[in-house]
Amino acid sequence: MNVAFLDIKRQYASIKEELDQAVFSVLSHAKFIMGPEVKAFEEQIAKHCGTKFAIGVASGTDALLLSLRACGVGPGDEVITTGFSFFATAGVITRLGAIPVYVDIDPDTYNIAPDKIKEKITPKTKAIMPVHLFGQCADMDPIMEIAKKHNLKVVEDAAQAIGSEYKGKKAGNLGDFGCFSFFPSKNLGAAGDGGMVVTNDPEMADLVRILRLHGAKPKYYHSIVGYNSRLDTLQAAILSVKLRYLDGWTKKRREHADVYNAAFKDIDIITPVEEDFNYHIYNQYTIALKNRDRLREILKENQIGHDVYYPVPLHLQECYKSLGYKEGDLPVIERKAREVVSIPVYPELAEEEQSFVIETIKKVV
Ligand SMILES: Cc1ncc(COP(=O)(O)O)c(C=O)c1O
Repeated sequence: MNVAFLDIKRQYASIKEELDQAVFSVLSHAKFIMGPEVKAFEEQIAKHCGTKFAIGVASGTDALLLSLRACGVGPGDEVITTGFSFFATAGVITRLGAIPVYVDIDPDTYNIAPDKIKEKITPKTKAIMPVHLFGQCADMDPIMEIAKKHNLKVVEDAAQAIGSEYKGKKAGNLGDFGCFSFFPSKNLGAAGDGGMVVTNDPEMADLVRILRLHGAKPKYYHSIVGYNSRLDTLQAAILSVKLRYLDGWTKKRREHADVYNAAFKDIDIITPVEEDFNYHIYNQYTIALKNRDRLREILKENQIGHDVYYPVPLHLQECYKSLGYKEGDLPVIERKAREVVSIPVYPELAEEEQSFVIETIKKVV
């Protein structure tokens, strides 16, 4: 049996007619840039996560970049974030001339450890960027409290966490800005790149709207220099269809997670910890174990798709050598980078496929 890590083609097959219809409709009206589907999808996302505003942009990376720009982050500023994330989290900070300041993670949730943030605040700190890793929200209450006390902005990197909840409130609606990615492998994935910024602040929403259109308002009048970062109409049309299914897909992911949790209960691997106050959407089901690399070999031999998020922590990336971090600075992250592996959890994963993954893992551990 060959078990794919993720098989997006199955999702397409399940809603083919609706998706085809949405694409053909855009091809027919040909309003490819900022067409009516973009506005409609923005309204749907704002409703889904309970924010006042949603602004479609070209990618999750750009959602972060434009949000930080709107916060006024610029050369010499510091932005506090986790060292355990996809590179985009750090890259956007550097691209604005600012400095990423990395904090260690909570060993259970892989999210930024709020009690380690305070010691990293300096007069140059401008913002905090927690990442809701693998689909579970960071512990936002203490983060917001620190931010309020030190007058800092909070940009949620919710790229992996659309639909997840913290104390009954949706990811993206917890900080000053929430940023989603519609990269195809995300729980709500486009047929290409796409992203969204959500916020409750009308002025900030306006600023992001201007930034995505080269800084123009009105058209051809530029008081600031912005970007070309719009969500494609075609992607918005596709995402609108998929959004109707998102909550159901999330339930399937959670069911798969429950099956794994029960199966791995008595063996020596660490399964994901879902905090009582969180609703985890399992963009990844990530396990941790000492002999991770041996398990990877066996998974590969058995043609079971898997991946390691992330093998190299951000503070140890070659491009950040000049920041002066060294091995041992963020020990929890460094250990987890050696121990984690993510296994298939997508909604369409068949029961027999999941059983095969479980059997294979149990033979090794
Ligand atoms: C945590 C995190 N932040 C940011 C991004 C960037 O999103 P995108 O690939 O849509 O630019 C991703 C996804 O790829 C991500 O997983």
